[in-house]
Amino acid sequence: MNDKELIDIEDQYLAPVYQKFPIILDKGEDCYIWDSSGKKYLDLMAGYGVSLLGHSNERIVKAISDQAKQLTSCHGSFYNEQRANASININKITPKHLNNIYLCNSGAEAVEAALKLCKKHSKDKIISMSGSYHGKTIGSLSLTWIPKYKKSFQPLLDDVDFIPFGDSDSLSKITSDTGAVFLEVIQGENGVKFASVEYFKQLQEQCKKHDVLLVVDEIQTGLGRTGKMWAHEHYGLIPDILCIGKGLAGGMPVGAMISRKDSTNFSLGEHTTTFGGNPLTSSAINASIEFLSANNVVENAAKSGQIFLNGLKKLKSEYDSIRDVRGLGLMLALESKFPIKNLLFDGLNNGLIMLYSGRTTLRFLPPLTLTETQVNSALQILDTLHNNSKKE
Ligand SMILES: Cc1ncc(COP(=O)(O)O)c(C=O)c1O
Repeated sequence: MNDKELIDIEDQYLAPVYQKFPIILDKGEDCYIWDSSGKKYLDLMAGYGVSLLGHSNERIVKAISDQAKQLTSCHGSFYNEQRANASININKITPKHLNNIYLCNSGAEAVEAALKLCKKHSKDKIISMSGSYHGKTIGSLSLTWIPKYKKSFQPLLDDVDFIPFGDSDSLSKITSDTGAVFLEVIQGENGVKFASVEYFKQLQEQCKKHDVLLVVDEIQTGLGRTGKMWAHEHYGLIPDILCIGKGLAGGMPVGAMISRKDSTNFSLGEHTTTFGGNPLTSSAINASIEFLSANNVVENAAKSGQIFLNGLKKLKSEYDSIRDVRGLGLMLALESKFPIKNLLFDGLNNGLIMLYSGRTTLRFLPPLTLTETQVNSALQILDTLHNNSKKE
């Protein structure tokens, strides 16, 4: 099959739900990826942050291939050593007070599980934030603010209210009539948006005062992405429920919801999924967490992220077209005054894969193994792209 045939076949048979780039990805190694023509790219997108520990990380590849030969599927109604180890490993890196793990297959599923648990705990209203993104299943979409994703699917759940993210005055809407608050500590899809330490302090106090569950969605921000294991650690937040996913299993589909082991728990059969915690994914979780812990990956995200952010700030001082640059660890954004579509495509031509957040923001979610040299080459390409677009 030649490249054109391959593209035509995907376009013909698959639901047209993704904004496609006309590039066929063929193989990956750490922070690099190659297309079918052999062209090499520095990957600052990492499959929306999934290739957290680099493409085809040797340790994870070995764990998956060894396990594939041993046993791939083991329903939750039986026990399995890989799953038991995955629960130990997840428990090691998550907050001490959270020790009830529900394993599933995607971020949206983790959010769905959290939503169901909150609905079981309280019939009161749920609060979510303006600008938020929590997934596209009916439940997670009901918690998502971004209107373009929702407009064809109304009515969604009617017990979700939205308050403006980062606005302390609106926190008074969290009352004894609120059951839970869903929160992304840093809003990724919305363009890497931040709120202040003071805001989060007040949010936590308000939840505590009214006995409201605080659900923190760290699907994008978690596992070292922001230079700490969890983004909520930067702000001293104490989640009642944590949702994680993306890079947890080194590229295998995964999600997990972690809650307190208390009276608010699912009972037998209330919430299950066929593939959750299967041995193959569990082996990848184990290899990923072991790699993350043994190789100073989180520290590297903080260090490389700071160098990257400093470089972006320098670019901003040189190019008028850049409105803002921001980020924490290796979760970064460059907001332009103009649509970034051309920058995105010129980036591809120059061997740089980036991600967009809306029409004017470039987002960077590279593997956390990104080195200083790779940061500098990305900055060099961004410099060239901005220089070229100035001349046009
Ligand atoms: C913060 C957040 N929550 C939930 C999701 C949904 O995860 P998934 O696409 O794996 O269902 C995402 C995905 O980008 C996300 O960034």
